[in-house]
Amino acid sequence: MVEHLLLSELDAVLRQAQDELAQAGDSEALESWRVSYMGRRGHLTLLLRQVGSLPEEERRTVGAGVNQAKDTLEQLLSERQNSLREAEASRWLEEGSIDVTLPGRPLSVGRLHPTTQIVREICDAFVSMGFDIAEGPEVEWESYNFDALNIPRDHPARDMWDTLWVDWTDPTDQGRRMLMRTHTSPMQARIMESTQPPVRVLVPGKCYRYEAADATHEWHFYQVEGLAVDKGITFADLKGTLYEFARRMFGAERRVRFSCNYYPFVEPGADMAIDCFACKGDGCRICKNTGWIEIMGSGMVHPRVLEGVGYDPEVYTGFAFGMGPERIAMLKYGIEDIRLFYSNDVRFLRQF
Ligand code: DAH
Repeated sequence: MVEHLLLSELDAVLRQAQDELAQAGDSEALESWRVSYMGRRGHLTLLLRQVGSLPEEERRTVGAGVNQAKDTLEQLLSERQNSLREAEASRWLEEGSIDVTLPGRPLSVGRLHPTTQIVREICDAFVSMGFDIAEGPEVEWESYNFDALNIPRDHPARDMWDTLWVDWTDPTDQGRRMLMRTHTSPMQARIMESTQPPVRVLVPGKCYRYEAADATHEWHFYQVEGLAVDKGITFADLKGTLYEFARRMFGAERRVRFSCNYYPFVEPGADMAIDCFACKGDGCRICKNTGWIEIMGSGMVHPRVLEGVGYDPEVYTGFAFGMGPERIAMLKYGIEDIRLFYSNDVRFLRQF
C-alpha cells in the first residue's frame, strides 16, 4: 500500500519538522529550517513530487494530506518568527540596549530661499491691496523689452540695460531679435495688450544682465514689477499705494520720500526711498549716512506706452513701479553681498 507508506512518511516528517522548529533560536536557523522542509529539495517538496506518480484514486487523498501539512508548517513558521521577534525585542529592552526615551534624530527640513520669501512677502502686500499676480517669459522679444517701453533702437536710454542677446536669426526676415529680459517691465506691455482696464497687476520674475558680478550686482536677479491703469489714476494713487507697501514691508512707522528720476516708460518718473529702519534716519552704514534707503523706481505710465498697446491716454492713466527683492532682502537682513543668494552655500541659506 503505497498510499499508506507516503502518509506515514508525511507524519514522521511533520513531527520532525515541529521538533526542529522548536529548536531554531534565531532567524538564520528559521531560514535553514524553511529550506530543509519547503525549499526546492525540501522533505515536503520531495513528498509532494512523489504524489504525481500515484494512481488517480490515491493521488487525491495523499495530495490533500501533503498540502495540508504544508499549510501547517507555514503557519508554524510564522508563529515561531513572531515569538522570536518578540523575545528579541524584550531582551533588548531588558538589557537596556534600546533607550526608548532617547529623542528621535531630527530630520533636516528644507525651506524657502530668502529671495522666494521676500518675493512672496511683496506679493502678499500688494495682493491685499487688490493686485493680481502674473508671470512672463524670461526669454523675451526685443520689442517688448525695449520698443514697447518707449526705448527705441539706437536710443541712448538702452545703455541703462546691458543686454544678453540670444543667438538667433529670425527666419521670417522681420529682423526680430530675442534677448534675456533685462527687467520685468516688458510684462506691462504684454498684459495691457491682452486685457482692458482696469489693470492692477504684480509681476515677479527673473531678469538677466550682461554685467560683471560684484557685491551689489549679479548677472541674474529677481524683480517685482507693478502696474495699475484705469480712468482717473493720479500720482497720488502711486504715492498712497507705495507708501502703504513700505509700511507693510518695513514697519508702520516708516516715512517715504520720492525723488525725480528718469525711466523712459514713465513720465514723471520717481524713485521711492524709505527712512532708514536701522538708524531711524540718524545715519548709519545701511543708509550710507543719508538716513534714506532707495527701494524702487516708479512713475506714471508714459502716454506712448499706453498708445502702443492701444489704450487711449486721454481716457486712461496709470502708474508703474519696479523693485529688486534681493536688494530688499539685503537691507532687511543686513546681507552684504548679493552673490550669496546664488552661491548655494547652505550655511548662508539656513539662516532664513
Ligand atoms: N525696469 C526698471 C529697471 O529695471 C525699474 C522700473 C523703474 C520699473 C520705474 C518701473 C518703473 O515700472 O516705473 O531699472
